[in-house]
Amino acid sequence: MSISCDMLVFGGTGDLALHKLVPALYHLHREGRLHDDVRILALARKDIDRNAYVSLAERHCRAQVARADFDNAVWQGFASRLDYFAIDATQRSEFAGLAHYLGPAEGRVRVHYLATAPNLFEPIASNLESVGLAGENARIVLEKPIGHSLESARSINSAIGQVFAEPRIYRIDHYLGKETVQNLMALRFANALFEPIWRAAHIDHIQITVAETLGVENRGGYYDHAGAMRDMLQNHLLQLLCLVAMEAPVRFDAEAVRNEKVKVLEALKPITGRDVQDKTVRGQYGAGQVGGHDVPAYYFEKNIDNDSDTETFVAVKAEIDNWRWAGVPFYLRTGKRMARKRSEIIITFKPVPHMLFKKGETNRLVIRLQPDECVSLQLMAKAPGKGMQLEPVELDLNLAHAFRNTRRWDAYERLLLDVIEGDSTLFMRRDEVEAAWRWVDPILNGWQEHYRKPRPYPAGTDGPEQADRLTERHGRQWSH
Ligand code: BG6
Repeated sequence: MSISCDMLVFGGTGDLALHKLVPALYHLHREGRLHDDVRILALARKDIDRNAYVSLAERHCRAQVARADFDNAVWQGFASRLDYFAIDATQRSEFAGLAHYLGPAEGRVRVHYLATAPNLFEPIASNLESVGLAGENARIVLEKPIGHSLESARSINSAIGQVFAEPRIYRIDHYLGKETVQNLMALRFANALFEPIWRAAHIDHIQITVAETLGVENRGGYYDHAGAMRDMLQNHLLQLLCLVAMEAPVRFDAEAVRNEKVKVLEALKPITGRDVQDKTVRGQYGAGQVGGHDVPAYYFEKNIDNDSDTETFVAVKAEIDNWRWAGVPFYLRTGKRMARKRSEIIITFKPVPHMLFKKGETNRLVIRLQPDECVSLQLMAKAPGKGMQLEPVELDLNLAHAFRNTRRWDAYERLLLDVIEGDSTLFMRRDEVEAAWRWVDPILNGWQEHYRKPRPYPAGTDGPEQADRLTERHGRQWSH
């Protein structure tokens, strides 16, 4: 399907647009996925002309795209789609000029991608409406986090909902665009093997780790108000949890999949008041070494308060109160400046009911998203030789190798194409976002009252030692 479309990128000179969206659109163009008519209009306050924007975009695209994938002739073709419009998005009066510049839609889809700070979502939506740019053919894409609490998320959702009907709102969580994340659904719902054992009777616990080596980079201003809970756990990690825990949807379509995810979020056991001391760990990185380089403490990073209490690490013991998962802890953790980049989901099964051999470890299913994409099942096998010496061995499904002749798509490529084609299966619905906040809000409030100071951890480690206690207390261990 190839659809004629105007893609408007608000925040067009920002990091997200230049590092992710432009390269993703370039790839889609290069692979012939964009209709010849697709135009891309970057919008920002900066007073530059089209040529200056195209050079800026080219510089970033060259840096982001693998050398073998960047081709000058292809770039020229892509650049001819690109345009730039300087606008102060808070000024309604400037939108008339934009509408005039765009001209009539003539059957084209209009995608308004808001790669901006969330406080601009409402003014941009209402300004678009005021000049007729929010009609039936228009879609709006909102970046996470939607708000900083349940109340603010509701207010954003209501304001946007006044202008755009829910099916035309695409709340993006780029983790859902990652191949291995979608593979998790394939693994669960296209293989008969797992379903019978995918439940409390057979699973001991589940770990979801998203560890980054990066610090806050140039995003201190935003991050210091957000922290790891709002930046990562409220969205990316809870989305992963939903895909692991949800029931099979009746169909693979947007409503059916999202209905099941909401049910999981609604079944999350609340963590309130002093519970936060037992069930959550918040940490903040101090100075240390990452990849052999000295790095400063969080509170010495650019645009961060020297006495900041913002967490750069969070670990939570989550529980799902439903028939399938009662009694199975879901340990979630994410942090910046950790020892190595690693995103993975580990399902640890219960031990065999009666052990015949001296050594036996429990089976584990590892679904790794980053740095390499693979699914591996750890089984016990007999080591060669005399006696019954058992060792864990791995049954590996290396996705990068299995599909080695196919280029791996970046999450944004897949998701941008889905928006153009009108498929919102991999986007968050309003009730999903609000259900996630409903669970997160009491934790944030509990922190204010009972856990204000994050625990320090040296950069380049696995987070504060208190995180180990979170699992050890129940006889489990984080995977290292
Ligand atoms: C973003 C967060 O949503 O995800 C960033 O705002 C984080 O803080 C990033 O670094 C991680 O994404 P990925 O795809 O690199 O794991």
